[in-house]
Amino acid sequence: MNQEAKKPAKLQAVKGMNDFFAEEAGLLQALEAKLHGWLASYGYRNVRTPVLEQTALFRRGIGEVTDIVEKEMFSFTDRLNGDELTMRPEFTAGIVRAVVEHSLLYNGPQRVFSMGPVFRHERPQRGRYRQFHQIDVEALGFAGPDVDAELIVMLKRLWDDLGLTDVRLEINTLGSPAERAAHRDALITYFESHADLLDEDAKRRLHSNPLRILDTKNPAMQAMVNAAPRLDQHLGDESRAHFEELQAYLRDAGIAYTINPRLVRGLDYYNLTVFEWITDQLGAQGTICGGGRYDGLIELFGGKSEPAVGFAIGVERLIDLVKQSGAVNGASRCDVYVVHQGTRPEAARYAFGLAEQMRSTGLEVILHCGGGSFKSQMKKADGSGAEFAVIIGDDELAAQEATLKPLRGDAPQERVKAAALAARLIEQFPEQLPEQITEQPES
Ligand code: HAM
Repeated sequence: MNQEAKKPAKLQAVKGMNDFFAEEAGLLQALEAKLHGWLASYGYRNVRTPVLEQTALFRRGIGEVTDIVEKEMFSFTDRLNGDELTMRPEFTAGIVRAVVEHSLLYNGPQRVFSMGPVFRHERPQRGRYRQFHQIDVEALGFAGPDVDAELIVMLKRLWDDLGLTDVRLEINTLGSPAERAAHRDALITYFESHADLLDEDAKRRLHSNPLRILDTKNPAMQAMVNAAPRLDQHLGDESRAHFEELQAYLRDAGIAYTINPRLVRGLDYYNLTVFEWITDQLGAQGTICGGGRYDGLIELFGGKSEPAVGFAIGVERLIDLVKQSGAVNGASRCDVYVVHQGTRPEAARYAFGLAEQMRSTGLEVILHCGGGSFKSQMKKADGSGAEFAVIIGDDELAAQEATLKPLRGDAPQERVKAAALAARLIEQFPEQLPEQITEQPES
């Protein structure tokens, strides 16, 4: 009996991890190109650190009693050698590790950036994924507040360039470690006197991380938390001056902001300046960028004490906003689509050679592969977004020519000698003249 072969089951991506393809991948690529220009205009240079780091790095850097370290890290033991490893849940710790390991601040402060995937085991929803992407920017070795202001102004410029209007800035200062310690003691005393109102999470954090209790979403605790001792009551002159000066820079630059004394951020390494950019257009996950100063982290990782400040933008959230603004176009396109339909196989090879010839001049060319009727090939040519179709048939092959058909507008098609085809097309795309041609002296 003929037994029907069992079809293999389809495999699926890991929950909360997305594929980027078609228009969205194009949008990401176009956005990345814009971002590189923007980062370069502020003097930021690329660094790339591994996706995997020692788990101890994030425990020490981000802090033991944080959501990320307690519940969200993709950590595992390497079964080949027993190493405890973690897929990076953020860039900062890895970049600071690299800075210390390679003494990158030996020659003075550095402005660096990195882009790529980060991993957090959160409950997926719109704007919240288990693999997501960040654009991470760090100014290392700068005490600020000038550079803190520069980072914020730089972000405002990006929102403007991307046509994002509904993004607001919240800032706060977390003071120095000593001021935070004094505030922390005051908070513990206060929360202890309201122990009956604390939920389980808060009770657990009472002595390990009382500051995070201020971040509670529990409505039953709001009134009590609102009346808790505030850090600004414990700030000394230096911290106050740093924050005041930052605000003066922002006012000079015409940047609107609100001071949110409850803004504490979810990672433990921060001091002084912290900030977030928030939008109402994305539903619950409205924070598109968060950052701040982390003057103690380099020393905590064994380096010489150096100040630092930075931020990270959530790329998926940014793309969601950019889609709404329409300022970046992700549609794929090319310059030329080569259509060929000869009765002899030489026609296909002739088309193949012409496509290579055109690419040598810097043109973006798609060669139709896989046959099909003339009509269906022309439909593909149109859908490719190409400005021109180059059409090859038996006649063109015999005459060593090509038919050049404009696909946009009413210009008539023309027959062009193969040897002159690339030059004729280059006339149509002057912005793509390769350097060696533009640099040739006029004759
Ligand atoms: P963060 O606030 O944890 O900061 O993350 C930065 C941004 O990443 C968030 O504002 C959000 O846009 C995005 N994001 C966070 N979690 C998710 C998620 N599950 N799905 C999608 N997007 C998400 C940091 O990571 C710090 N390292 C920033 C920094 C750099 N501070 C100083 N330097």
